[in-house]
Amino acid sequence: MSKLNEKNKNLLISYALAVGFSIVMAVCTMCLTYSDGAFLISPLGAVVIGFLYVAVFSVANGICALYRINMYKNMAVMYISTLLSVITLIVCMRYLSAVFAPLLVCSLLTVLLVNKRSAFIITFANFTVLLTMCAVRWIYVGIEFSPVEIVYLLIKLVSSCAVIAFYRPNYNRINLIGEVVVAGLISAVLSFAVGAVFTVQDVVSSLMDAVWYLVSDVASLLLCLVLSPVLEWVLRLETNLKLLEYISFDQPLLKELSEKAPGTFHHSLAVGNLAERCANAIGENVNLAKAAAYFHDVGKLQSPEFFSENQTDGYNPHNDLTFENSVKIITRHTEVGYKMLTDKHFPKILADVAREHHGDSTVSYFYIQALNITEGEVDSSAYRYPGPKPSNRISAIVMIADTVEAATRARKLTTREELYPLIDKLIKDKRESGQFDNCDITMRELAVIRDTLVEALIGSNHKRVNYPTKNRDN
Ligand SMILES: [Fe+2]
Ligand SMILES: [Fe+2]
Repeated sequence: MSKLNEKNKNLLISYALAVGFSIVMAVCTMCLTYSDGAFLISPLGAVVIGFLYVAVFSVANGICALYRINMYKNMAVMYISTLLSVITLIVCMRYLSAVFAPLLVCSLLTVLLVNKRSAFIITFANFTVLLTMCAVRWIYVGIEFSPVEIVYLLIKLVSSCAVIAFYRPNYNRINLIGEVVVAGLISAVLSFAVGAVFTVQDVVSSLMDAVWYLVSDVASLLLCLVLSPVLEWVLRLETNLKLLEYISFDQPLLKELSEKAPGTFHHSLAVGNLAERCANAIGENVNLAKAAAYFHDVGKLQSPEFFSENQTDGYNPHNDLTFENSVKIITRHTEVGYKMLTDKHFPKILADVAREHHGDSTVSYFYIQALNITEGEVDSSAYRYPGPKPSNRISAIVMIADTVEAATRARKLTTREELYPLIDKLIKDKRESGQFDNCDITMRELAVIRDTLVEALIGSNHKRVNYPTKNRDN
């Protein structure tokens, strides 16, 4: 499927999900008005609310698409989280009190399984739905307008935003406990302050409300801990939690790489650090870029001694081979890596990056030598990687970080004046040879990546002073 079709398919599924979940949530809102065997809400009212929800989620979809988060799996997580808080609120409103509703679960699940941006977007969409539900109860059920409910929702909104703001991509499920304690304390303090200042209830009642806020946040955490692995598995998500396991040095394939191909291992770590900074600079998933870089050259495990970074004893097996045979051995590491990662059930995107990180560029070291000895009569296709070209921005980032790491390491460059022209040329060469034609990376993002790499390498390639040796006589 072409790039355009793939993008349209994602967008189409995201909007279909928005409409589907809006209908379900409109039905849920109708249920709030169910009394004595009938719905108190008029059919027209239900339709209007359905359209309102479609509008809210379409705006959320639009903002997500703007920030390139419109992959339908992510949208599914966001809508399921919203639906969960809507249903729990309805149950709590009917049988207990709204204060018990674990509304934090929406923000927690989304920040954990998708990212911070989507969590902020869906938290605001979710609270719009919840406010609409309160309004429906006042209008159709005749429940007196209560500012307490609004205050309650606003306190939950503030604590949800705090949870998202404090969240860090390297947090695991245990770190979430600290997050929820912060949210619970913020809710409790706000609730106590609002109760003490604006209502006439006594201190004990205000304290009790504060305690219930804490309880509902703990319930949100428990729901999140139960549901997050289920959603992760059902939707096959590459979550930060999963990626953190892949970038751990206890990961068996990384251990094998460090033992059998130490040069490639260190190169992969260096590429990982550069890719991480580039991803951060253009708003991509930092852990995904790092994990993809760590495993991009894993195919070299099949014959590590054929790659210069692992030739520590000075012996180069390519001296005994023709250029074409050397190129065959070198270029196959992309396919081998893809197969290894696919066989070991790694996330598809990591396997894709292993296959795509050289695109269909030529192995210039051998190609140029062949051109020199044949006076230009060389079939360039025999010196090319088989491709495909990067199909996503993570592949593009790893391709650039890989090329730049290898080139700057070989030349030992340290100053901005030395690094900038080289990195600029390397990226330009990749772009002009069409390596980024199949991924939606922009010129502006390429410029940001270039500047980020220059800054990163000025820091990491700094010259060290030679330590003086001690004079034996002293
Ligand atoms: Fe490679
Ligand atoms: Fe590499």
